[in-house]
Amino acid sequence: MSNDAIEDLLQEDRRFPPSDAFRANARITDDAVRAEGTANLEEHWATQARELSWFTDFDTILDWQPPYAKWFVGGQLNVSYNCLDRHVDAGHGSQVAYHWEGEPGDARTITYDDLLDDVQRAANALKALGVERGDRVAIYLPMIPELPTIMLACARIGAAHSVVFAGFSAKALSDRINDATCKVLVTADGSWRRGGVFPLKDNADTAVESTPSIEHVLVVNRTDSDVSMKAGRDVWWHDIVPAQEPSCAPEHMASEDLLYLLYTSGTTGSPKGIMHTTGGYLTQAAYTHREVFDLRPDTDVYWCAADIGWVTGHSYIVYGPLANRTTSVMYEGAPNFPGNDRIWDIVERYGVTQLYTAPTAIRAFMKWGDEHPAGHDLTSLRMLGTVGEPINPEAWIWYHEQIGGGRCPIVDTWWQTETGAIMLSPIPGATTTKPGSATFPMPGISMDIVDDAGEPVDIPGGGYLVIDQPWPSMLRGIWGDDARYRETYWARFPGRYFAGDGAKRDAEGYYWLLGRVDDVMNVAGHRLSTAEIESALVAHPAVAEAAVIGRADSTTGQAVAAFVSVRQGVETGEALAQELREHVATMISPIAKPATVLFSDDLPKTRSGKIMRRLLKDIAEDKVLGDTTTLADESVVASIKERYLAAGSGDE
Ligand code: WTA
Repeated sequence: MSNDAIEDLLQEDRRFPPSDAFRANARITDDAVRAEGTANLEEHWATQARELSWFTDFDTILDWQPPYAKWFVGGQLNVSYNCLDRHVDAGHGSQVAYHWEGEPGDARTITYDDLLDDVQRAANALKALGVERGDRVAIYLPMIPELPTIMLACARIGAAHSVVFAGFSAKALSDRINDATCKVLVTADGSWRRGGVFPLKDNADTAVESTPSIEHVLVVNRTDSDVSMKAGRDVWWHDIVPAQEPSCAPEHMASEDLLYLLYTSGTTGSPKGIMHTTGGYLTQAAYTHREVFDLRPDTDVYWCAADIGWVTGHSYIVYGPLANRTTSVMYEGAPNFPGNDRIWDIVERYGVTQLYTAPTAIRAFMKWGDEHPAGHDLTSLRMLGTVGEPINPEAWIWYHEQIGGGRCPIVDTWWQTETGAIMLSPIPGATTTKPGSATFPMPGISMDIVDDAGEPVDIPGGGYLVIDQPWPSMLRGIWGDDARYRETYWARFPGRYFAGDGAKRDAEGYYWLLGRVDDVMNVAGHRLSTAEIESALVAHPAVAEAAVIGRADSTTGQAVAAFVSVRQGVETGEALAQELREHVATMISPIAKPATVLFSDDLPKTRSGKIMRRLLKDIAEDKVLGDTTTLADESVVASIKERYLAAGSGDE
């Protein structure tokens, strides 16, 4: 047995250098920028910060009193000014900021001129509703243009926003509003989801019954639903916003002023209000967006198909792209409405050049079948990205071939709500990629992989991912809970940020993410990562998606249990289960062989698409199910449990 904190099992030898055609026009073509940026970390980030417009220049690049960092101290700027005014002032007002498409098929084209106008009116409306610099505003909106508009309006007047994903319940919303004592809630009458209307305003009404801090509710009419408006409290967007003056001077914010709160529960625990501030956050969001997506603002049509309710949408639909004067696509609805090809139809119609999505979505596309992308012209795409979970190498290859036509570099970007922006990623014109590896830390990011004692593990080797130097877009704390901030991120390895993820480096130093360390299994003394066994399963042609957990076992400590969802048209049964066990044994090792295989059409996921292995573990150990409130679809768990028990757990 090795000394590694997590064993290195899966070997992946395929490699993809950037093509000459891509390199010929790429912004960065040499990976040496990484070492240079990290060796001169403060200068690197100061150079990037100066790409923004500052009302007052900063005098100190970094003030680091672990675990508290202040970046660009003394500097003053405004995020909405950087995202809008400076582009309009430079003559780009008529450039499209968003090609917005609604789920029912309606569309809006919003230029930088339009957006600046709307943001200033919305900012004045917030002021009219009593919002002042330093206040918090809760936002519970679907993916409509009013969402980025109101976020930027908050930034313009120096109020922090707290966006709550529009699929969350009334209870989740009121908890978050109360934690941050928000003064105003911005919502819509309803939101479109697969042709139906989700009653946002009803939920908001229920939430607001128990949120004493809310003085007004600002309501966008999106679905023409019948809603009740409480006199004196509720105001229609169309009654108050368009009537405002289209000019509102941007507040001069200190670099370290709060820009937003975003609550994250991850796959475990109660939600934490992650705090992001102004100068450092915008610097790293803009820099990573520009370099990781090799951005050409004059010609690209970039699409991040996430929801703004998550950090990916904050950094890579709103702040990064707008700071870089990007033309983006923004889509309101489900990827499979009205058909399983909706995404590819949008790519074709708008001529999308960069697509950024999540492994969970890619696996769904694989499951739905190759004919959907094949029916569309996807040749406008020049590069692809993924974020959110480890991408199984076979899903990577599928994305590369079926979507990228074999010609598009793929950037597998690792980061977190807490990191604010991309931390590990290929640079598309420079880095030779390997399917399933997020490759190397970005320039100016210093990371390591350590063992239980906090000692760096050798290369190659596996352990815990830590970030050992501060970075500009790092969280500044957990709102109202400093003890939890220190405990969660800084206690395990003092002086270093512990991300909670396992990772390994291969012989060439490439980083491979192995999943949350809470999910690591211990089978007969071997510490196995869920990610590698799942990837081995997904490499089997019958499998679309797999989740693996360690369930209690009296002889081996834990035994591997696999929950497998197969591709369309595949027949499931004991023969396939046996074949999959053997497949894992040969691809990885007999120790990783699943003792249990259960076939399931769906796997329990968070609303942002991450598999909740904790619940599968409860099922496999026949325990009372833990907290299910963050699940996208609660019925999935009950149905898996029923089948798991009926199958007598399907043991070998
Ligand atoms: C996981 C999303 C492997 C990881 C931006 C992390 C990934 C958590 C990757 C953060 C990736 C994200 N490869 N794992 N490329 N990207 N993760 O806060 O476990 O929603 O800690 O932020 O997602 O999720 P969050």
